[in-house]
Amino acid sequence: MPEPKRLVAGNWKMNLLRAEGIALARAVAAEARGAHRCDLLVCPPFTLLAAVADALGDSGVALGGQDCHAAPAGAYTGCVSAEMLKDAGCGHAIVGHSERRHACGESDGDVRAKTLAAWRAGLVAIVCVGETRAEREAGRAIDIVSAQLAGSVPGEATAANLVVAYEPVWAIGTGLTPTNEDIVEIHAAIRGCIPAGARILYGGSVNPKNAAEILALAEVGGALVGGASLKAQDFWAIAQACG
Ligand code: PGA
Repeated sequence: MPEPKRLVAGNWKMNLLRAEGIALARAVAAEARGAHRCDLLVCPPFTLLAAVADALGDSGVALGGQDCHAAPAGAYTGCVSAEMLKDAGCGHAIVGHSERRHACGESDGDVRAKTLAAWRAGLVAIVCVGETRAEREAGRAIDIVSAQLAGSVPGEATAANLVVAYEPVWAIGTGLTPTNEDIVEIHAAIRGCIPAGARILYGGSVNPKNAAEILALAEVGGALVGGASLKAQDFWAIAQACG
């Protein structure tokens, strides 16, 4: 089986208003029409999905949501279903991002239900896992991530419907990254827990300076990029770092 292309995904989080989001999407789409060696995905806030879908046009850059509710529809004020993401043009949904696990109290069970919802709607689920600093310092990183995967990834996972994003909580938005050895070790452990061929992304302070080194590591199938995805130039530099 040929190696899947690396996936470089931008998580815009709760950033950008309409004009800025459209400008960023247009800039990424323009670059993506040129030569590149990876798959590209942007995950804007819900309010921008339709406008960004339009701006991306036929560039080949995929669209994703940053979260979804487990139910297809109903009395869930403020929530967005996987079916709504699909209807807005998404092919992917991020689920279980650490900012939701920690700030919104999402459990592995919640993330599992959201993963199933994403699949029900025909989306690829990007399931995020990662340890805190205290857990890493206690030598428990692999145990924590393995337990998160066991609790969050349903048995129906395949290489086509699942992407795992390993994002150490302490590396997100901090400028800190694990050592290459630590990334390789934990990606290898994740590989043992998921279907063969499913991509494993590294996330946490990926930037144009460190991207080539991280993306060259064994088992690193791409990057989930937060802050650096908000600047087209930086996001593109990371995409170009895929060898
Ligand atoms: P960061 O965020 O690149 O800003 O560290 C990554 C993420 O949270 O997905």
